[in-house]
Amino acid sequence: MNPPLVICSDVGKAWQTADTPVVALEGINLGIARREFVVFLGPSGCGKSTLLYLIAGLEQATSGTIESGGARVTGPGTDRGLIFQESSLFPWMTVGENVTFGLKLQGVAALERRQVAAGLLRKVGLGDVAHKRPDQLSGGMRQRAAMARALALRPEVLLLDEPFAALDVQTRSKMQQFLVEVWRDSGASMLFVTHHIDEAVALADRVVVFTARPGRIKSVVPIDLPRPRDPRSPAFHALSDHLTDLLRDEVDRAFAEQERVR
Ligand SMILES: Nc1ncnc2c1ncn2[C@@H]1O[C@H](COP(=O)(O)OP(=O)(O)O)[C@@H](O)[C@H]1O
Ligand SMILES: [Mg+2]
Repeated sequence: MNPPLVICSDVGKAWQTADTPVVALEGINLGIARREFVVFLGPSGCGKSTLLYLIAGLEQATSGTIESGGARVTGPGTDRGLIFQESSLFPWMTVGENVTFGLKLQGVAALERRQVAAGLLRKVGLGDVAHKRPDQLSGGMRQRAAMARALALRPEVLLLDEPFAALDVQTRSKMQQFLVEVWRDSGASMLFVTHHIDEAVALADRVVVFTARPGRIKSVVPIDLPRPRDPRSPAFHALSDHLTDLLRDEVDRAFAEQERVR
């Protein structure tokens, strides 16, 4: 079998704060296969975003190592694309310019950039908005544009931090179906952060369940459901119940800790 694309070995992260260091992650061991869809699920504050930023190379681990594509992660790279909760499109650029901004930095010529943008925007269902500004788009459209932008650099893994959290329920469900199509078509691995159990079951090949802070891996749950998935099916409900049971104690602990801090 091929080695995993992304490998976290004994990864820990403590954030330095004014008083005591905050231990966000401890002893994370995890491999993500090529083309695998992995979801990080855990209560808020358990370190999901922190782990994503470490893999993105935006922050350094305090202990342990992270590898991507056989090389040690020491900083950001085009092999890893990022999508955040609020789209980070540049408001002064057109959607098309946003999508190919990374290619421009790489010195790709304007004509080719326009062709790539047109192709990617078609792929995410935004074929006719290349000339618009981000603020002329709905939230769902902005997140699709952010996907197109992330895909423009042909990443091997897409890192998504609660990308649909700000969307209404109906749009969110459409975007989930849509993301699965993008994933299959791109051949990339997906690392998707959420605190929504149903979203995890809808999307993942495997769900990594985190403990409350300090975040450790509590359990890894394979989701062996055929796609497209039916959220009303008994098998979907059974997995969702199982994840709810796994999370319940952790959510209680996270909540108690938040109350203490206030
Ligand atoms: N830049 C930072 N400086 C200090 N503490 C941080 C920083 N980022 C996150 N933390 C702390 O690390 C813990 C994990 O945060 P985070 O990874 O954002 O959790 P999640 O994404 O699971 O909600 C939290 O206690 C948070 O307050
Ligand atoms: Mg987060």
